[in-house]
Amino acid sequence: MPLHVEGVSHRYGTVAALEAIDLDIADGETVALIGPSGCGKSTLLAILGGLLQPSAGRVTLSGPPPADSLNPFTYVFQDFALLPWRSVEANVALALEHRGLPAAERHERVATALALTGLGDFAAAYPKQLSGGMRQRVGIARALVVRPAVLLLDEPLSALDAQTRALLMEDLLAIWAREKSTRVYVTHNLEEAARLADRVVVLSRRPGRIRDVLRIDIPVADRSRPGHAALLADIHRRLWSLIRDEAATADREMQRA
Ligand SMILES: Nc1ncnc2c1ncn2[C@@H]1O[C@H](COP(=O)(O)OP(=O)(O)OP(=O)(O)O)[C@@H](O)[C@H]1O
Ligand SMILES: [Mg+2]
Repeated sequence: MPLHVEGVSHRYGTVAALEAIDLDIADGETVALIGPSGCGKSTLLAILGGLLQPSAGRVTLSGPPPADSLNPFTYVFQDFALLPWRSVEANVALALEHRGLPAAERHERVATALALTGLGDFAAAYPKQLSGGMRQRVGIARALVVRPAVLLLDEPLSALDAQTRALLMEDLLAIWAREKSTRVYVTHNLEEAARLADRVVVLSRRPGRIRDVLRIDIPVADRSRPGHAALLADIHRRLWSLIRDEAATADREMQRA
């Protein structure tokens, strides 16, 4: 569902992390957030999901979340944080405990989340039996099982090797096509941003301000087509040119500090 960010600024004591962020995110849209290290991306994600109260400004959802949404916001982080003593199915069901759902609905939700993430055959497996990519798919299934209105992803692929990351990108595109949440995706990886998002928001170095917003005009379903490689490469170049000065200055400032 649509999400509105109005004049959001945040300070941690004397550290200004974010400044005057205005952003409207459309229903079902995927927005990638990129920017140099420490520019406030994770802070903004925490504010969007209500984990952190901003020093100024506000975040609002338009209208009530869908009726089947048990939680309007859920997170996916880079460390999978799965419980090793629980099966895949039981890890995904964790978010449904203490909700008083009928058993049939619980099973249906878990089965749907596992099917969406391609884990249907691994319901009974344990985390240690899975590859890193599969473990992260369990993390995604766990976030989707409550049918969030907004899915907040903080560098979900950063802990994975390059090949696994490429495969997971394909999986995420397939999930995006079948699942209707609004998504905010934080990444350092410009390729992920260009392939997975409808728009890419480029933040400046700290305090993070919106430096630019790029729309990726390729339908999500077509992103993997070889014919779009040149266009994606061009977007990648534009993103890099926007971010490199910010990143280089941030790096120099960090070395001086
Ligand atoms: N709890 C906190 N207390 C004090 N300062 C914090 C806290 N959390 C973050 N910061 C500082 O606020 C700034 C923004 O942090 P944040 O984690 O949001 O950046 P980020 O863009 O996610 O960085 P990265 O790319 O490294 O993940 C950083 O300078 C960080 O050191
Ligand atoms: Mg971060």
